[in-house]
Amino acid sequence: MKKKVLILGSGGREHALAWSMVHDKAVEKVYCAPGNGGTESIAENIVVNLANHQEVIRLVQAKKIDLTIVGPENPLANGIVDAFNKENLRIFGPDSYCAQLESSKLFARDIMAEKRIKQPVYYSCNTISDVESLKEILELPLVIKADGLAAGKGVLICQKEKEFKEALKVIFEENAFGDASSRLSLERCIFGEELSVFAICDGFDYKIIGSAQDHKRAYDGDKGPNTGGMGAYAPTPLSTPELMDRVGKEIIDPTLEAMAEKGHPYRGFLYIGLMLVEGEPHVIEFNVRMGDPEAQVILPLLKSSLFQLIWDATEGKLKSAKVEFKDESAVTIVIAAEGYPIKYKKGRRIRGLDKLEGNMVFHAGTKSKDHDIVTSGGRVLNAVGFGSDLPSAIENAYQVVKKVKFRDQYYRKDIGKRGLQYLKTKGKR
Ligand code: GLY
Repeated sequence: MKKKVLILGSGGREHALAWSMVHDKAVEKVYCAPGNGGTESIAENIVVNLANHQEVIRLVQAKKIDLTIVGPENPLANGIVDAFNKENLRIFGPDSYCAQLESSKLFARDIMAEKRIKQPVYYSCNTISDVESLKEILELPLVIKADGLAAGKGVLICQKEKEFKEALKVIFEENAFGDASSRLSLERCIFGEELSVFAICDGFDYKIIGSAQDHKRAYDGDKGPNTGGMGAYAPTPLSTPELMDRVGKEIIDPTLEAMAEKGHPYRGFLYIGLMLVEGEPHVIEFNVRMGDPEAQVILPLLKSSLFQLIWDATEGKLKSAKVEFKDESAVTIVIAAEGYPIKYKKGRRIRGLDKLEGNMVFHAGTKSKDHDIVTSGGRVLNAVGFGSDLPSAIENAYQVVKKVKFRDQYYRKDIGKRGLQYLKTKGKR
């Protein structure tokens, strides 16, 4: 019997998840809660308070939903999976204990230390004098991370003394991260090539579903404030089969083993932010969800059914699953509202969405209003381009960008450039 699926969340990642489900022959109906202006055109949006788990459970029971997929980290950290498990309802995502891999940087660091997973040297601290004395040990440059969830903003890279002093002011005087910085992870800076690897885990086994590179800074040339991500490409030329094999054996296997040993087998997406230091994969961070905008390039490149992989994961039957990929590259460009991530306008009418002629655009901060789609957030749309290689995927993605317009739109012009530079030196896709 075909299944009913609910996607929780409202960003571009959730539109991409909904798109995957809608195109799956095993899926009868897709709901998004709350969804956005794009999910509304392919699925049914439902208003629900994600912080109220009982409300979400009542919705799932009323609509007879077979599978719930959690998009963002907050409901996971707040225990939505634990609440569903108590009711015996099928949900895909880690429980709140496992979600600490993202919601507590120090929890994740300690798990990695326990299993000897390569990572930067780190210390836990919580006072300004701790930080100052640890700086003498670690030396600049170093990284200060708020332990808790800080909407992607709690990581401060201190290259020079001036940045270190500024970081102390932001954390201790301005209290910019609130409770999230009541504990800090102070880390030695490591240098190398960055990439992210994504896996689906069933508690004991896993399947890698792709690799990507995000562009976190707002402006071209990796300048300006940190954002949720301004664009991504997949696969990254760094991700050789040998590297993926090592990531599995040296990082994913021991992490799953650690969580199972703690009595909480890890089920859900696992996002591994990596740095290759002289070819050796070191973990920068774990996230317990798909990346956004990485999902917008990873999911369309899957030839296998995402629904089936997730279903198998919830059954604990991933071991025998096969994952097949399209032999293509994909690039997504985030079209944002000018001023994002600081101050930007909402409510701008978006034009051109009806003339996409099969081109792929995932919505993020959009909603429908009086028969129009208008902007409702900082990251508004994700234009996606495909190609037989990275250069043609970049070209095609920027062609899609040209088709949609709204007042004060902004996007980076250099998405994928680092991949191209890497290809120039290493000569591969
Ligand atoms: N794109 C970064 C993230 O999803 O955390």
